[in-house]
Amino acid sequence: MRIGDVELNGNVILGPMAGVTSLAYREFMKPFGVALSYSEMISDCGIAYGNQRTFEYLKTSKIDSPVGLQLFGSDIKNTAKAIEIVQNVAKYDILDINLGCPVHKVVKTGAGSALPRDIAKLREYMGEVVKVSQKPVTAKIRLGWDQSSINVFEVAKILEEAGVKAIAVHCRTTVQGYAGQADYSKIKGLKETLSIPLIVSGDIFTLDDAIRSVNETHADGVMIARGGIGNPYLITQIGHYFKTGEKLPEQGTDKSIEYARQFARSLVELKGEAHAIPELRGILPHFFSGFPGYKKIRLALATNMKTLQDMEAIFTGIEIHG
Ligand SMILES: Cc1cc2nc3c(=O)[nH]c(=O)nc-3n(C[C@H](O)[C@H](O)[C@H](O)COP(=O)(O)O)c2cc1C
Repeated sequence: MRIGDVELNGNVILGPMAGVTSLAYREFMKPFGVALSYSEMISDCGIAYGNQRTFEYLKTSKIDSPVGLQLFGSDIKNTAKAIEIVQNVAKYDILDINLGCPVHKVVKTGAGSALPRDIAKLREYMGEVVKVSQKPVTAKIRLGWDQSSINVFEVAKILEEAGVKAIAVHCRTTVQGYAGQADYSKIKGLKETLSIPLIVSGDIFTLDDAIRSVNETHADGVMIARGGIGNPYLITQIGHYFKTGEKLPEQGTDKSIEYARQFARSLVELKGEAHAIPELRGILPHFFSGFPGYKKIRLALATNMKTLQDMEAIFTGIEIHG
């Protein structure tokens, strides 16, 4: 798959997740076969007004490449300013615009999934983004605002006409949030109307989910978000299948502690213990789903873990009792 001038070595893409897809997470996931990763969403105003914490999200590395930085915004003046700054300070391959975020705080400013509700504004905004950006621009959208206003075909066409080089669709509406099932059937035939790559997102938790999503949509790539948290091997299974047609066996849980430790250490290295531990409390339990005593492990990691040393003590307990 090719996105503008960026050639991808595969079609499994790591979806953007606020609070998860930090540089440490992306670096950890990469060796499992990620063809392209996306950053957490980054506020254009945070960049344009020089907020130091926002700049932390722009960190990338060689291992991380190719990587897309995802911005959200609604006022093209701010977004254009942010893009110019990002171009000066960050090393990245693709610029992504978030057109799918359903969170009220974002939508009320006209950003995220509010933008595709106003087709004329969307056309103008994305046209300008593409003009300003020196990197290929991609966009991430949902099916539409609600079941009665599904406009994904129209929005995708406008994005393509604006010069966007790939589109990822989370197959839910904004109003759905994360409820219900991703409905791949709603983008059946979309691929055939586009000349740029289509990436399907939503509820890909197993290899069979990935196969079904591509069979139904003919998408060029699959985006893995929640399904990869704590289960990086899912990326390997999917990537291997699409390259060879062969289904790799399940890996089991033998490597879970090793993976969790590796990720935790690199997040602490990136952010320091004080910032990393709260993030790890949400992410680490996923590495142990399916373990005997999972509920206890989750509780210990989510509530008792205050330091890396606590984490190691919890892991030792798992090893002894596991
Ligand atoms: C915790 C979390 C944070 C997310 N943050 C973002 C984000 O910053 N930008 C974005 O475009 N999508 C975001 N998403 C949506 C995911 O990229 C993805 O489209 C969605 O979760 C459906 O895919 P999944 O079922 O594989 O998780 C987020 C999802 C989750 C669960």
